[in-house]
Amino acid sequence: MQNNKKNEPLQDSEMIKVSRELFTDGLPLPAEVFTKLASGQYILLGKKADKCNLSSLHLAQDKTVEFFVRKTEYSQLISYNLNLIKKTVKNNNLGANVKMSLLKGITESAISDLTERGVYVGSYEKCKQIATFVQETTAQIKDMDKFIDIFNSLPGDMVGHSLATSVVSMLICDQMNITMKSTIEKVILGSLLHDIGLKEIPDEILAKPRYQWTEAELQHYESHTLRGVELLRDIKEIPSDVLSIVMEHHENALGMGYPRRIRDIKIHPLARIVAVADCFVDLVYDSQKSAAVRKPEEAIAHIEFAMGQPFNKPAFLALKQVIHLTALQKKMNISS
Ligand SMILES: [Fe+2]
Repeated sequence: MQNNKKNEPLQDSEMIKVSRELFTDGLPLPAEVFTKLASGQYILLGKKADKCNLSSLHLAQDKTVEFFVRKTEYSQLISYNLNLIKKTVKNNNLGANVKMSLLKGITESAISDLTERGVYVGSYEKCKQIATFVQETTAQIKDMDKFIDIFNSLPGDMVGHSLATSVVSMLICDQMNITMKSTIEKVILGSLLHDIGLKEIPDEILAKPRYQWTEAELQHYESHTLRGVELLRDIKEIPSDVLSIVMEHHENALGMGYPRRIRDIKIHPLARIVAVADCFVDLVYDSQKSAAVRKPEEAIAHIEFAMGQPFNKPAFLALKQVIHLTALQKKMNISS
């Protein structure tokens, strides 16, 4: 069977695995949904805009069956679900469960995206745990409507980037034996929101490669840290530690970051973690900030040798260890 418009078989490189919780029965499908057969062939389960009835499909009733969408439709799917969460927040008749399961679906998809890029997040159970933790943390925000509004207005694929940064930050915490729930919650929120100020930066600056920026454009871009803090001050449940993460996620240990060029000792301890996670995610994702998409181990080498490892040493070493474990997992052929 041939599934795509060009009548050519779909390739793994075009597809991304997504959580089944992103599809709500009875609502129009925001993207074409596929599953993958053991032969490697992708089979269309539902067409875009058709009413979703995936749970009634015989094939999809097997919980081990995985869902895929085209990578080109991924950010659209995430954005669609964020809008749905917004609607469910406004609609008091719909239970918190619906909202929670959508949030979980978005995080699970971000984890699967990271895994796809070669970062071993953990066993299936651990991934579920991480997704649940992110979901529970965000669900604590009473002003959820405003939170989702701000989150969803992030440009381009920043939602995916923010979620990936929060997962990598959690892996670093785990490696550093940071286990206090309230601390990890702050790291998650800070990671999700760190680039929120980018929504005030004009698209024409964001679309340009960094080396083409004028001095004025660079300054404008760098103001996203301060702008982010301004945007979040109105949300009561955002702790001051989270605002510090947003403010300081581009500072570095050498005192060469922005906006204040402070050195490691003065950088908020949680901002040190998010700073290295943010840079790493930029390097492994296709971002306007990085020249090429790198494998996880190449990203670590780039930070260490090309950038001169400007981040907090324990945080960087923890990330390096996570990636080292990833390589070991691959060698041992343990599937995630
Ligand atoms: Fe940033």
